[in-house]
Amino acid sequence: MSDERLIVALDLPSAPEALALTQKLGDAVSFYKIGLGMLTGGGLACAMELKEQGKRVFLDMKLFDIGNTVEAAVRGLVQFDLDLLTVHGDPHVVRAAVKGRGTSDTKIMAVTVLTSLDRSDLDDALIIEGTTQELVIERARRALQAGADGVIASPQEAAHIRALPEAKDRLIVTPGVRPTDTEQGDQKRVATPAQAISEGADHIVVGRPITLAPDPLRAVQDIVTDMNRASGINSTFR
Ligand code: C5P
Repeated sequence: MSDERLIVALDLPSAPEALALTQKLGDAVSFYKIGLGMLTGGGLACAMELKEQGKRVFLDMKLFDIGNTVEAAVRGLVQFDLDLLTVHGDPHVVRAAVKGRGTSDTKIMAVTVLTSLDRSDLDDALIIEGTTQELVIERARRALQAGADGVIASPQEAAHIRALPEAKDRLIVTPGVRPTDTEQGDQKRVATPAQAISEGADHIVVGRPITLAPDPLRAVQDIVTDMNRASGINSTFR
């Protein structure tokens, strides 16, 4: 049976390749993330197909634009009966997305700071002083105040966000998860599945450690086993 805490990032070039992987994973996975990399390869069709199969879908569009455009984009996308949809966590973007979502059940998730960025990347982007962690926590707080149903952050900030009064009953979803002994790739603020869950993540997003694994089903099973160890470990990042 599946563990809904695991969201598998289907970062594959096309819908047929993505659906072939979901076939391999079968009942072991019930929650998938579709992102920008598959947009031109049938990403929305893949989302619809997965919903028809009874899976949950997280559409990772990371929308950012003027409020009017974000609202219109979200109003269109929620017709796909998505479970989660991402926008950048700037308060004006979140407010517009919540308006566009209307009465649909799609949850608006705010991206804080990409888990592939560190302080030197933020310097390059002319983002003001402060540690990455401080910026993530403050962006999360503001996005939640603006009405986001949850935030995307690295496991290294999850416990601090969980402690915010604004985070009560809201979701924390963490990419940047790497089982021990797997490649970090371009992710910089990483943790293991067990660490992420013990830090307060409701869901973890894992892509390449599964999509590039010689045996993806085995990789999923190992991640689920690791998540189940979470209650036995102490915080690593606080
Ligand atoms: O392959 P990997 O496990 O690094 O994939 C992580 C996924 O999570 C990617 O699809 C990436 O776009 C997404 N993501 C992220 N950091 C964020 C938000 C989303 O890595 N802050």
